[in-house]
Amino acid sequence: MYKRMVLLIVLLTAVACQQQPTATNPLPTAPTGVVPTSEPTAVVEPTPSAVPIPAYLNPELPTAARVEDLLGRMTLEEKIGQMTLVEKNSIQPTAVTTYYIGGILSGGGGYPHDGNTPERWAAMVDSYQEAALATPLGIPIIYGVDAVHGHNNLKNATIFPHNIGLGATRNPELLRQIGQITAVETRATGIPWNYAPVIAVPQDIRWGRTYEAFSENSDLVSELGVALMQGLQGEDLATSTAVLATPKHYIGDGGTAWGTSTTEDYRLDQGDMQVDEATLRALHLPPYQAAIDAGAQSIMVSFSSWNGTKMHAQKFLLHDVLKGELGFTGFLVSDWQAIDQISPNYYNAVVTSINAGVDMNMVPYDYLRFINTMRTAVENGDITTARIDDAVRRILTAKFDLGLFENPYADTTNIGLIGSAEHRALAQEAVSQSLVLLQNENGTLPLPKDARIFVAGPFADDIGVQSGGWTIEWQGKPGNITEGTTILEAIEATAVGEVQFNRFGRFENFDPPADVGIVVLGELPYAEGHGDAADLSLSASDVELIRRVGEHADKVVVILLSGRPLIITDALPLADAWVAAWLPGSEGQGVADNLFGNHPFTGTLPYTWPASMAQLPLGAGGEPLFPFGYGLTTDN
Ligand code: GLC
Repeated sequence: MYKRMVLLIVLLTAVACQQQPTATNPLPTAPTGVVPTSEPTAVVEPTPSAVPIPAYLNPELPTAARVEDLLGRMTLEEKIGQMTLVEKNSIQPTAVTTYYIGGILSGGGGYPHDGNTPERWAAMVDSYQEAALATPLGIPIIYGVDAVHGHNNLKNATIFPHNIGLGATRNPELLRQIGQITAVETRATGIPWNYAPVIAVPQDIRWGRTYEAFSENSDLVSELGVALMQGLQGEDLATSTAVLATPKHYIGDGGTAWGTSTTEDYRLDQGDMQVDEATLRALHLPPYQAAIDAGAQSIMVSFSSWNGTKMHAQKFLLHDVLKGELGFTGFLVSDWQAIDQISPNYYNAVVTSINAGVDMNMVPYDYLRFINTMRTAVENGDITTARIDDAVRRILTAKFDLGLFENPYADTTNIGLIGSAEHRALAQEAVSQSLVLLQNENGTLPLPKDARIFVAGPFADDIGVQSGGWTIEWQGKPGNITEGTTILEAIEATAVGEVQFNRFGRFENFDPPADVGIVVLGELPYAEGHGDAADLSLSASDVELIRRVGEHADKVVVILLSGRPLIITDALPLADAWVAAWLPGSEGQGVADNLFGNHPFTGTLPYTWPASMAQLPLGAGGEPLFPFGYGLTTDN
């Protein structure tokens, strides 16, 4: 207690020296019992009640009171700084101090340059935090990452199935546990803010972000989105086992029309949702109501548009509906440089978006331009100080609730749990529950453990492919990119008979026929609009591979690693069994557990499985190959 008392007195003296008193911002009164001199003097032991600390530094006070006290002490520069979110490669820590920056983020793949380890992540975050605490009021930054299927930018973290696979589990309790573990592994590296979960309701699986979402069904998205968010946030955000979740991207990111995107060569991502308000409310809004009711305090705005107007400019949807009608009291963060897309006139873009209700701008590069534009807009009266105060109030509330003023630096207590066997076991269970058995003829599955097995396919032994996008790198990448178990390794670890692998399906060192040929096919990793695809059909070489393996095996099993349903109709008869494995992440053992009967198949389709591309977008008509909710079990 004594140490804290001395620290507080020293801090008060520091605050007194650096802040200019103003009418609305009287300096805190010097604590009685201490003579403020330049020479260090013996500190008179003050009675605790005699040392009035600034209210915002008093954790005993309600958050609202701390926020109001702090707000009243802030200059306009400090307030604008809080609304500024910068990507970590675009700013030096010293500039965080100079410009009172409120947030720093790592974009996809934004690991430390000097080593992708938990310790280096914590040191990197703390370097920015130290700079923030050097500002006159010592307002901590909030550091954010996309931990969308585990702490996926961190090498050797536990990588869970992407949300499409979690949607197939239909198991909210499992997702709550996944959220908890993701929070532990993320916060252990000093990061309290996670840009997850995606609660989009995709209506066209040609979208490159289909796998980031749980389902085409709004109710399922609401249920699972809330469960994951509750796991991430826990009961108390101010603990080392919780992170601030960020349901995203508000609103209708998954409802855009093909060919309406104006970003790069994207076709759906960041496009225009062309529906009436009734459809918007019925299909895309319920997950946000559910998330707000479950305690969301940060929501990310969508790049996309609604009937031609960018979401970041939609005051009706941001301010009137989300903050007004739905009662969202947290803060709205923009997406990556999304405000700039509103208008070629940056001043107009910023004014429009902040006045529409965006509270924090993920700039993320030229923070000085944003700060100067904001100051000019306030001086011109185009953005009111009331709007600024409202945004800063929302941001500070989250920072106080995260406990950042009391514990601003990384708490690495749980660093040893990152990628632990216990965490990986849960991920393995999630993989098993995520698999959907599409076809199982001739009693093929489960496989006898002593079967003679031939494994083929480019993706059978590839942790990068089975993890998909948003893994170590933004777009993900094939290869041995992080610790885990490939599907081949899992088969080899589970089978007791002969197992032979040849990615090209050439039976070079294996006397045919195999009892079972297992072919692992699918999609290479992608993220966002780079995954928008006009054709989801299996390639001719994939079909040929299945056929080739079938010539030398009594039975054939195809395992699909993909971010969405693929068009497999014509190839279906070429194999006895088909398994949708989605993007299972690091724990491929979950696939082998189901193949050999150690775990039943229980997953059911979270998306309709089309028979042809003509059946897209959802509702285009025609009998699907497999309907929403379909899934065989191994006792079928
Ligand atoms: C990306 C994504 C968003 C992500 C953000 C930060 O462009 O749209 O989901 O949270 O930028 O990485």
